[in-house]
Amino acid sequence: MIERPRGTRDLFPEEMEIRNTVEGILRNVVESYGYREIMTPTFEHTDLFLKKSGPSIIEEIYAFKDKGDRDIALRPEFTASVMRMYHEGMREVPKPIKLYYIGSVFRYERPQSGRYREFWHFGTELIGPNTPQADAENISLAYDCVSKTGLKGFEMRISNLMILSTYLEEQGVPEGEKDEIFHLIDKEEEEELMKYPFGDDLISFMDSDLEDFKEYLKDTSPVDYLTSVLDGLKYYGIDEDDYSIDLSTVRGLDYYQGVVFEIDAPNLGAEKQICGGGDYKLGSIFGTDVTAKGFAFGFDRLVLALGEENISPVSDGPRCYMIPIGEEAKGYAFEVLSMLRDDSITVDLELMDRTIGKALSYADKMGFDIAFLVGENEVKDGIVTVKNMKTGEQTQVSKEDLVKYLCEYDKI
Ligand code: HAM
Repeated sequence: MIERPRGTRDLFPEEMEIRNTVEGILRNVVESYGYREIMTPTFEHTDLFLKKSGPSIIEEIYAFKDKGDRDIALRPEFTASVMRMYHEGMREVPKPIKLYYIGSVFRYERPQSGRYREFWHFGTELIGPNTPQADAENISLAYDCVSKTGLKGFEMRISNLMILSTYLEEQGVPEGEKDEIFHLIDKEEEEELMKYPFGDDLISFMDSDLEDFKEYLKDTSPVDYLTSVLDGLKYYGIDEDDYSIDLSTVRGLDYYQGVVFEIDAPNLGAEKQICGGGDYKLGSIFGTDVTAKGFAFGFDRLVLALGEENISPVSDGPRCYMIPIGEEAKGYAFEVLSMLRDDSITVDLELMDRTIGKALSYADKMGFDIAFLVGENEVKDGIVTVKNMKTGEQTQVSKEDLVKYLCEYDKI
């Protein structure tokens, strides 16, 4: 038997229903902030990802030669593609430009629970503005997205990469060697960090509170900038209790430069990070100095985290099953069926000519909320017999009142 490739998943109807509802919630939130949807190609020239991240990225992505001998890679994320798209077709658009996307991305990783080779990003990019308020809005948007899904157990960490960068500069670390130290911090390699002459000092610097950062720095402007961003967050109802300041939040990707943040759902265990983002610069690949801010949710992990809290959002409204009884009732049953479907009420039809008993048992197994029984009497009286599949109760409702009845129906 041919099985699905490692690190991929089949998504069953029940999962898709939940995913679509969560997606709808996220779309509503970002659209309410003025973001508009875009899409970029699933594959790009490999160079797009090599330019900023260097040759080592090849190990982590799906890269191959196409039939025309071109180097092609499946997108491992959207941010670089969105920047390419901006430089190819949006440079004249007045800023700020607010874009969002949802789609699958591909990374050649070692699969485990919550870590896949094909997964989905729901993300945003805010191109142009370079103010603390823009950083605050970027962070609050991500925060708002998680809150609106109903997830309770999540934690947000915020940092400004410029604080660490300034510290390292003042310790005499050359620009080219900073990345190595950032990498060690990202991987929590404390022993390796201690090999630097300032190792001890660096660790206690990172462990200290926002108010104390300034004691370690000559140039304190990055701390002031972060403070302004946090002040900005208050306008969105996000205060100190809702996040922690954590200088070890350095982000894995190479393009971030300023304020960054991550959101964790601790109940997911090892792969608990559900969102990451911040301020970044990718313009240099295209010869501009445009800056942007954004974030991406690991959409699959967000849905997993909701599942861990037993939150399974699905669209409102009952799922109904129509059982016509006898040939004479068919015309009337179809009238009712199309009337309901025109009103966007979900109605499935018995297609296998089963007996009422068997059709009802199918409706029961499939978790329908309501079954409609339509026979000779119903046709004669212009009514529908409505069977509540959870309680077994039956009521008769006139055809005219049926839509209203179903709209007011409370799922149990
Ligand atoms: P990222 O942190 O690499 O950021 O990915 C975003 C999210 O994708 C992560 O926080 C995590 O939830 C999820 N994720 C990462 N790898 C996997 C995996 N193998 N399986 C399942 N989920 C995964 C970015 O990609 C940036 N482009 C975000 C951004 C947008 N920054 C600015 N704008």
